[in-house]
Amino acid sequence: MTVTTGTMTAWMQHGYGPASATRLADREIPSPARGEVLLRIRATALNSGDVRVMRGEPGLVRLVFGLTRPRNPVRGMDVAATVVAVGEGVTDAAVSDEVVAELPGGGGLAPFAVAPAARLVARPDEVPPHIAACLPIAGGTAWQAIERAGIRPGGRMLILGASGGVGTFAVQLATGRDIEVHVTAGERSRALLESLGAAQVLPRDLPADRLQEDAYDAIIDIAGGAPLRALQRATRPDGTIVLVGGDGTPLLGPIPRMLRAAALSIGSRRRIRPLAAVPKPDVLRELLTLTADGAIAPVIEREFPFDQADTALAHVEAGHTIGKVVVHAAS
Ligand SMILES: NC(=O)c1ccc[n+]([C@@H]2O[C@H](COP(=O)([O-])OP(=O)(O)OC[C@H]3O[C@@H](n4cnc5c(N)ncnc54)[C@H](OP(=O)(O)O)[C@@H]3O)[C@@H](O)[C@H]2O)c1
Repeated sequence: MTVTTGTMTAWMQHGYGPASATRLADREIPSPARGEVLLRIRATALNSGDVRVMRGEPGLVRLVFGLTRPRNPVRGMDVAATVVAVGEGVTDAAVSDEVVAELPGGGGLAPFAVAPAARLVARPDEVPPHIAACLPIAGGTAWQAIERAGIRPGGRMLILGASGGVGTFAVQLATGRDIEVHVTAGERSRALLESLGAAQVLPRDLPADRLQEDAYDAIIDIAGGAPLRALQRATRPDGTIVLVGGDGTPLLGPIPRMLRAAALSIGSRRRIRPLAAVPKPDVLRELLTLTADGAIAPVIEREFPFDQADTALAHVEAGHTIGKVVVHAAS
């Protein structure tokens, strides 16, 4: 095993809280355990999920990531990186490999992080690190939402709240499958979403009961606030509503809405299906190929140097990101 040891300076949080409480601090460079690799981070893309873990909100997050503070004090789940050491039993990754990965508990806002070797996907030369890092969670979630919707080419889909990371990928992936895409989004994102292929941009806060009846084969709900019955009315018989995002309740997040969805789906020809996206290396590989071919391109609103990663987190925390926010590694 190649060994990289010593300390590094990482963005750390010592308890759940806002971006303004994260600090640069020294910590040990982690060692890869069996089945893991050590990565030198080249770029980290942020997600609203990083903010949920950072703040420990909804409360349910703390059951998974740590009751009183996050077990891993470093945020950043989506990375492009170079393998610099491999743990025992790793046979399908080697030192110097250029990879993309989703880190299960975070760790990307640091010079080095460990990752399970099984999560790594090779980064094609044509896709630079800051572009590749945008793909795992936002692109993967958009992909899985479209799959879950089960919509065919020629169908019509509505994406509620399409201007963020997941939404801008969903528009591109759906139009790439010859699906007619309508979206809701703020006026400032209209031109962008039209350029990505949206056939109609409806107002961000359009009440769902004003949507045309039986208009859509599928609805992907990223914004998360609309009454479910109104979404069912806007869906054609045998259509599907996929629940992706939204704040939900302070303690249980999306769970109460998911339970309502299950109840409303009983005996209905308009099913409501919650999505809990999981890391899928095969999907990430497809997304990298589509990006290398120019079929999709992550929308990057802002790029930050490593020493301003707290400002990058604060920008995502504010909740108005258009597309993605990327932090470049320290040089
Ligand atoms: N189910 C899953 O497995 C899964 C996986 C990943 C993410 N998610 C969820 O998906 C959602 C999106 O994630 P993300 O990382 O793409 O977020 P993001 O990039 O931070 O999204 C920010 C964008 O969302 C828009 N937005 C926020 N609230 C809205 C509303 N009520 N109506 C319309 N637009 C709204 C904002 O536009 P304005 O500036 O106009 O407000 C902004 O452009 C989050 O709720 C996240 O938790 C779920």
